[in-house]
Order: sequence, then C-alpha cells, then structure tokens
Amino acid sequence: MGQTHLAAISTSTKVAVTAIVEPRAEVAASLSAQGLVTYESTDALVAAGGVDGFLVATPSAFHVDAVRRLASSGLPILCEKPAGLSVSEASEIQRIVGDSQSRLQIGYWRRFVPSLRNLKARIDAGTFGRLLVIHASQWDHRPPAPEFRNTSGGILVDMGVHEVDMIRWISGNDVLSISANELMSQESAVVDQDAGVFTMRLSTETLGFATLGRFYPDNDFVGIEVMGELEHERIDIIAGNAGDDVLTMALREQAEAFALGGDPYAATIDDAIAALRAVNTTTEMRR
Ligand SMILES: NC(=O)c1ccc[n+]([C@@H]2O[C@H](COP(=O)([O-])OP(=O)(O)OC[C@H]3O[C@@H](n4cnc5c(N)ncnc54)[C@H](O)[C@@H]3O)[C@@H](O)[C@H]2O)c1
Repeated sequence: MGQTHLAAISTSTKVAVTAIVEPRAEVAASLSAQGLVTYESTDALVAAGGVDGFLVATPSAFHVDAVRRLASSGLPILCEKPAGLSVSEASEIQRIVGDSQSRLQIGYWRRFVPSLRNLKARIDAGTFGRLLVIHASQWDHRPPAPEFRNTSGGILVDMGVHEVDMIRWISGNDVLSISANELMSQESAVVDQDAGVFTMRLSTETLGFATLGRFYPDNDFVGIEVMGELEHERIDIIAGNAGDDVLTMALREQAEAFALGGDPYAATIDDAIAALRAVNTTTEMRR
C-alpha cells in the first residue's frame, strides 16, 4: 500500500513524499535507487526532521507503535486503516494522539471518491427517501501473501472495516448490531478467510450488508448498491482496469486534504474505532 500511496502522491502538485521508513533492506535499496531518502526506523525519521507530516502504511499490527513514535513530533499523521487490529489498539492510538499536539486522519480513501461523495450528498438531501438496504462488496483479485494474511487480523478486520466505514459514512448511521459468516482458507499455512459476509442493523433501521472475497477473476472489485423507498443506485467504484485510476485519484485527494489541514468527510479515529468495534464484535460472538 505504501507503494500505491507513493505512486498516487507522485501525481500531486500540492504534496510530495520526501522520505520513507523501510526496515527491509531490499525494499529500501530499490526506493533509494529511485532517488528517495530512506530511513531504517521511524525514530531515525523523526530525529532527522525536515518533514511536515507522516503517512503510516506499516502492517496493521505496527500502527500503534508507529503512531506512538511519530506523535512525539507533534506533526500531523495520516494512518492507514484499520488503525490497529482491535478496538483496544485503536483506542490506544486515540489516547496517544490526544496526549500529543498531533492531528490524526485515518486512510479510508473511499470518502474521497467523487461518485460516493455525490451519492452521500443525495442521500443526505433525502433523494432516496427512507433507506432500506445498503450492500457493499469488496472482491480482491487474488489473496495477499500468507505472512500478510496471518498477521492482518482476518478478512473482516483487513477488508470488512472498509465496508462498515463506507456504509456508516454514506448513510450517516451507527451500527446497532452485526452478524457474520466466513469461509476459512483451505491453505494449511494460512489462518485467514477466503470469503465473508455480514449483515448489520443500522441506527435508522436501515439494513447494511457486505460481501467480501479474496478471489475474483477480473482484477479487484469494489462496489456499493443503495436501495431507498424513492431511489436506487449501484456504483462500481473499482472495476476492471479503470479501478487503478479511481484509487490513484482518491489517494491523491486524501493526501492533499490531509496536508491542507483536513476535510469534513475524512475519517477520524472515532470512525476507525466504530468500524473495528463492529467487526471485533462478530469475531467475539463466534469464539
Ligand atoms: N486503504 C486500503 O485500501 C488499503 C489497501 C491495502 C493495505 N492497506 C493497509 O496498509 C497497511 C500495509 O499493508 P500492505 O499490504 O502494504 O502490507 P505489506 O506487508 O505488503 O507492506 C508493508 C511495508 O511496511 C514495511 N514495514 C514493516 N514494518 C514496518 C515498520 N515498523 N515501520 C515502517 N515500515 C514497516 C514492510 O517492510 C513493507 O514494505 C495495512 O495496515 C493495510 O491494512 C490499506
């Protein structure tokens, strides 16, 4: 994801990546070969200074540690979702940033997709009438590497938080209850799911549901379908080859909004905690 952010931000005229923390020597060497300044550790970057803010794209298990080390600088932090692997980790991030001078934004990039902003504006204006069902789908082309799958919290924490956040944000609702079902991977060395579905009852009595998958033939797919009493809309947010352009644009807009001081639609740590609370709840219910 760091590489995806790097490519997206390289298209911006307002914000630039000036230094990267990368502990893996071979990755750092390839970044240096592209002319980028690299550091082995977050502490080394903070000590060197010379930056205006940070983007955290470490594996999720390191989000808390990265934010802790960066917040001491008092500079703004854009942290990738899910902001830790659990409600307690996200709450720790909230506490750390609350005790610092830093500003925190969470990287739920769909909030910067123009078609979704337009959809939200029409929902907020009442165009859909009473909202009945919101269906969100996220189907990855192929699963990530086993070491990522085994440490990213499972399909609901790694992928499902996007759907919870998008449904909450676009409808302005909280999650009242949630139930989920998942299919475990059949690879012996993998502790992760290949597919998952969940249904949610939202605060305005709207139903939200999501389908998640790690295998999809045609590149990655992300979509949303909104059914109201008065209106219906389906948007393929990422589909086919055009998906990369949508993601690049949204990540650039997100970084630019962050650099310029924030955005009313940007995700907060409260949003990240709400998404993790929903997906953590389903995991606890099935233990
Ligand atoms: N918003 C999205 O759509 C989206 C998509 C993919 C991943 N992500 C998020 O991005 C994060 C990274 O995921 P990924 O798929 O790129 O993982 P990855 O394992 O492919 O890459 C992580 C990179 O971080 C480096 N790293 C490891 N520990 C580090 C540390 N302590 N400090 C700095 N760098 C460190 C690794 O060497 C590696 O280069 C995760 O939190 C994931 O949830 C978000």
